Amino acid sequence: MSAEMVRGAGALPLDLGDGVVLDLTSVTDAAEVFAVVDRERDRLRQWLPWVDATVDVDIERAYLAEIERANATGAGLHATIRDPGGPCGLVGLRIDQLHRRAEVGYWLSERCVGRGIMFRAVAALFDIAVTELGMHRLELLAATGNVRSRAVAERLGMSREGVRREAELLSSGFVDLVLYAVLARDWPGAAAVTQAAAGSSGGGAQSPDR
Ligand SMILES: CC(C)(COP(=O)(O)OP(=O)(O)OC[C@H]1O[C@@H](n2cnc3c(N)ncnc32)[C@H](O)[C@@H]1OP(=O)(O)O)[C@@H](O)C(=O)NCCC(=O)NCCS
Repeated sequence: MSAEMVRGAGALPLDLGDGVVLDLTSVTDAAEVFAVVDRERDRLRQWLPWVDATVDVDIERAYLAEIERANATGAGLHATIRDPGGPCGLVGLRIDQLHRRAEVGYWLSERCVGRGIMFRAVAALFDIAVTELGMHRLELLAATGNVRSRAVAERLGMSREGVRREAELLSSGFVDLVLYAVLARDWPGAAAVTQAAAGSSGGGAQSPDR
């Protein structure tokens, strides 16, 4: 099943609460999404290798066309997150159909950070990946120093499996990536992880040791 078929079956768009909605990314999002990237490039380039190359809206449009194709062919499940203020950010699964494995990637506009939006968005995509797309394994890779991103994985209850040394070239140079994963049989579901996060005071992020 492809992401578009998931949408056709009614699993998307998804209401994440507090006026936040997640729906499949469209090329028509390009101007708004580029405006956020352009405004926040100094902040985003710290952790995202593609920011410096995204110099104009045509490049954004070409990228969104690529992910629209992935949503149609089953190679991905990429969504735009919005609230009443406009686009909050993007979240997506890169899908390896052969091994029924998916890797999640994401970013948020600064105005949307600190509200549990990405946590809820990734949990919702994991539900779809397991129940609709038949994924067996879900992965998340974050730079060792990216405390906020690592906290997303840890809040989701993903296992830390190891470190891929100098596996990503960021503006600061090569960085190590921490690999987090959860197997479908161990995924408790978005409702359970959301409930657990709501019950734990202080956000639940562990210290970012290597
Ligand atoms: C990584 C990134 C998406 C994380 O965003 P985030 O808002 O911190 O992540 P979450 O959605 O998990 O939100 C957690 C925060 O919301 C708070 N929160 C509020 N309501 C919440 C809820 N219902 N559930 C969970 N957390 C909630 C948490 O306490 C936490 O805040 P704190 O860290 O200030 O204590 C964001 O920092 C970002 O876009 N960074 C730049 C790009 C990037 O690094 N991408 C990833 C590359 S690997």
